Amino acid sequence: MNGWVGSPGMVRVAPSILSADFAALAVAIATVAPAADMLHVDVMDGHFVPNLTIGPPVVESLRRHTDLYFDCHLMMTNPEAYLGAFRDAGADGCSVHVELGRTGELVEQMRTVGVDAGLAVNPETPFEACEPWLEQIDLLLLMTVHPGFGGQAFMPEVMDKVRRARAAIAERGLSLPVQVDGGIDVDTAPVAAAAGADVFVAGHAIFAADDPRAAADAIRAAANGAAAPSRPSPPR
Ligand code: DX5
Ligand code: ZN
Repeated sequence: MNGWVGSPGMVRVAPSILSADFAALAVAIATVAPAADMLHVDVMDGHFVPNLTIGPPVVESLRRHTDLYFDCHLMMTNPEAYLGAFRDAGADGCSVHVELGRTGELVEQMRTVGVDAGLAVNPETPFEACEPWLEQIDLLLLMTVHPGFGGQAFMPEVMDKVRRARAAIAERGLSLPVQVDGGIDVDTAPVAAAAGADVFVAGHAIFAADDPRAAADAIRAAANGAAAPSRPSPPR
C-alpha cells in the first residue's frame, strides 16, 4: 500500500471531511490531523448517489496543506474516467463501489495508475459480492449507512457482513483492513470493532463536535476498548 499508518488489526481513525466546513477545509484538517491516521474524502457524482461534493481540484488544493494519507471514497458511476486525475491530485487510495459490477477492471486500473485499491460495499449488498476480491484489494469498505449524506444513523445489521469479512480475511491469512463508514461515533465504533472492523470513518461525530480532535481521539479509544485481545481486565 502507499503509506498506511500502523499495523494490521490496529485501530485507525479516518475523519471524513464531508461534515467539515467546506469553506475552511485546510483549518479543519489541521485541527484534526494529530488524531487522524488518514483523511476520508467523499466524492459524490450526483448520479451514483444523489449528492455532489468534491473532485480532483479540491483534492489537489488540500494536498498542499497536509501529508496525511488521502483515502478517497468514490461514490461515482464512472470512476475509471477520474482515477488518474485523483492520483495526480494527490490521492493515496481510492475506493470504488462493487455495485458497479466492474471490480476486476477497476482494481487493475487502480494498480496501473498507482493508487491503493479499495472496494466499497453498500449496506444491502451481500458479502458474496466482495468475497471474490479479498486477495486483490488493499481496503474493504463496508458501508454502515446508505451512501450519499453525512449524519445518518449507523445500521447494526451490517455487522453480520463485517464478521463474515473478518472471518474470511483471517481464514485466508490476509491483512486486509476492514473500514466502516457511516454513523460511527463513540457508541457505534465499539460495536463495529467487536465485529472485526479496524478502520473507522467518522464525519458528523468529529466535525460537528466542539473539539474535533478530542472527538476523533474518543472514537479511537472507544474502538480500542472493544478490541477484545487488547482489553485490560477490569479492576476487581
Ligand atoms: C456517506 C459517506 C460517509 C460520511 C459519513 O455517504 O460515505 O463517509 O461522511 O458521515 P457520518 O460519519 O456523519 O455518518
Ligand atoms: Zn465515505
